[in-house]
Amino acid sequence: MNYRHAFHAGNFADCMKHALLVWLLRALQRKETPIVVLDTHAGTGLYDLSSEQAQRTGEWREGIGQLLEQPASPALIDYMALVRQLGGPAFYPGSPLLVRELLRPQDRLIACELHEEDQLALRSLLGRETRAAVHRRDGYQAIQALLPPDGIRRGLTLIDPPFEEPDEFGRLTAGIMTARRRFGTGVIAAWYPIKHRAPVRAFHDQLADAGVTDVVTAELLLRPPLDPTRLNGCGLLVVSPPFGFEAAAGAILSAIDSTIGVGQATSSVRRLTAERAGA
Ligand SMILES: C[S@@+](CC[C@H](N)C(=O)[O-])C[C@H]1O[C@@H](n2cnc3c(N)ncnc32)[C@H](O)[C@@H]1O
Repeated sequence: MNYRHAFHAGNFADCMKHALLVWLLRALQRKETPIVVLDTHAGTGLYDLSSEQAQRTGEWREGIGQLLEQPASPALIDYMALVRQLGGPAFYPGSPLLVRELLRPQDRLIACELHEEDQLALRSLLGRETRAAVHRRDGYQAIQALLPPDGIRRGLTLIDPPFEEPDEFGRLTAGIMTARRRFGTGVIAAWYPIKHRAPVRAFHDQLADAGVTDVVTAELLLRPPLDPTRLNGCGLLVVSPPFGFEAAAGAILSAIDSTIGVGQATSSVRRLTAERAGA
């Protein structure tokens, strides 16, 4: 396990993923019934942007750094307020901290992180929070072992792997299908990199061919995905998105793509598969 999120925290990929995550959670919370969030690859939860790792890559400057310099556009107000509240601009909050902040008394967070040091950091960050549980375990195994959640029928599974294994798209596909099978009433959000188009197309085709219904993809490109050695963009694939996701995601991604990068960024939101008949 070489991947450390501290090098990448607050980059464009985090901004798009977290702004969409905040919207998804708020949408699920339109109903009073409890939700559970399973964060399969959680990271440490909070990142010091002055750390040696963050300074070495400087990736956050092209992401949250640029967003913080502008007045937040309406689509980003909620997310940006949370970033500031949770430490910005000196620190950047990761997915489990954003989720923890939004939990209502009836909601739960289950966060999995395999890296020992990162798991300990997350455990100490979440402290005595009784609504959150931190596990040091494989995130994909957790989907199999921890879903469906006890007594809670609604929720979100966030799958955000580091993509350091050559077959990560295959594992991601399998993870999505397991989550769908075990927690069919839940929403799934899976993050993926876009270096070049072919592996992304194969990933989408595999899910569509497997019959996974009600899938929407939200993608942000910093530049055309022509050089496969670079992270040219990324996507969040959402299964069973709450009502209004496509329009909201379009507005969120447009607000990000018009601010970050060097004027070449673009975004798109597409329905990959239709809703279940009768849904
Ligand atoms: C992209 S980062 C997660 C960032 C986090 N979701 C966020 O948005 O703030 C991926 C994390 O997965 C952890 N990891 C790697 N392999 C894992 C596995 N098999 N199961 C759980 N966590 C894993 C890494 O240590 C890393 O912290």
